[in-house]
Amino acid sequence: MEHITQHVPVLYQEALDFLKVEPGKVYVDATLGGAGHARGILERGGRVLGLDQDPEAVARARALGLPGLQVYQANFRRLKEVLRQAGVERVAGILADLGVSSFHLEDPRRGFSYQREGPLDMRMGEEGPRAAEVVNTLPLEALYRLLRDLGEEREAYRIAQAIVAARKKKPIETTTELAEIVRQAVGFRKAGHPARKTFQALRMYVNDELGALEEFLAQAAEVLAPGGRLVVIAFHSLEDRLVKRFLRASGLKVLTKKPVLPSPEEVAKNPRARSAKLRAAEKEAS
Ligand SMILES: C[S@@+](CC[C@H](N)C(=O)[O-])C[C@H]1O[C@@H](n2cnc3c(N)ncnc32)[C@H](O)[C@@H]1O
Repeated sequence: MEHITQHVPVLYQEALDFLKVEPGKVYVDATLGGAGHARGILERGGRVLGLDQDPEAVARARALGLPGLQVYQANFRRLKEVLRQAGVERVAGILADLGVSSFHLEDPRRGFSYQREGPLDMRMGEEGPRAAEVVNTLPLEALYRLLRDLGEEREAYRIAQAIVAARKKKPIETTTELAEIVRQAVGFRKAGHPARKTFQALRMYVNDELGALEEFLAQAAEVLAPGGRLVVIAFHSLEDRLVKRFLRASGLKVLTKKPVLPSPEEVAKNPRARSAKLRAAEKEAS
């Protein structure tokens, strides 16, 4: 069993400042993870309803036994349902820090990493197909579109062809097998591992990340109390674009004309922060 490091929260201070936490009020942390941001809310006197779709993240968070934190295993696309269950109608703030956590990336059993050999899984929760199912069954054209649209991968067609050719010989079962197929198809790349975008695309597809985000944002805007704030940290352009467009059209007051980015110091300390973009909005007091 490999040692799993802590998950360092990204844009920690910025996220808490935008949430404007007030003692005694109720906040939703829609992506509880290692509970880094949630602790910040608790320390400022807020109460937290924490959601995570990953049973392992939920078990870890519950084991922390933090007073004021209620933990729910749920996809954030079910936000309203969770609030109903908690007997809460309106909340003072909602935070979503999207994507996977360091726990996911560093645990080879979960299959998120092209650098660590593991089963090709990539499910954050208990729903959706495994990544292996996707690469072994999706028709060429669909695989191509998936890599092009969710990975923004320039060599999508070449990679899709290589995957289809490889699976005719034998099903693709592990992360490193897939990474090697991609590497052979596109060769060396200056900017990062050649399989990075392929893995990103599969992960987003397996977890229906954009679909879940869209459903979540609509519900979040609805359940905010007047003056309540929504803070979203996105890690790649498709997500950020979706958040930006939603906030513009939502009727909420946008607090971030441009997205807030991590400082060079933060990126130096925590490379995972590199692509983070924070956007925040407030529900007008009625
Ligand atoms: C980047 S981590 C959050 C880290 C957290 N802010 C912290 O400070 O420790 C994202 C977490 O959200 C969870 N997650 C991602 N998408 C989700 C969704 N649609 N519904 C619920 N949880 C989700 C993941 O399982 C992961 O644990």
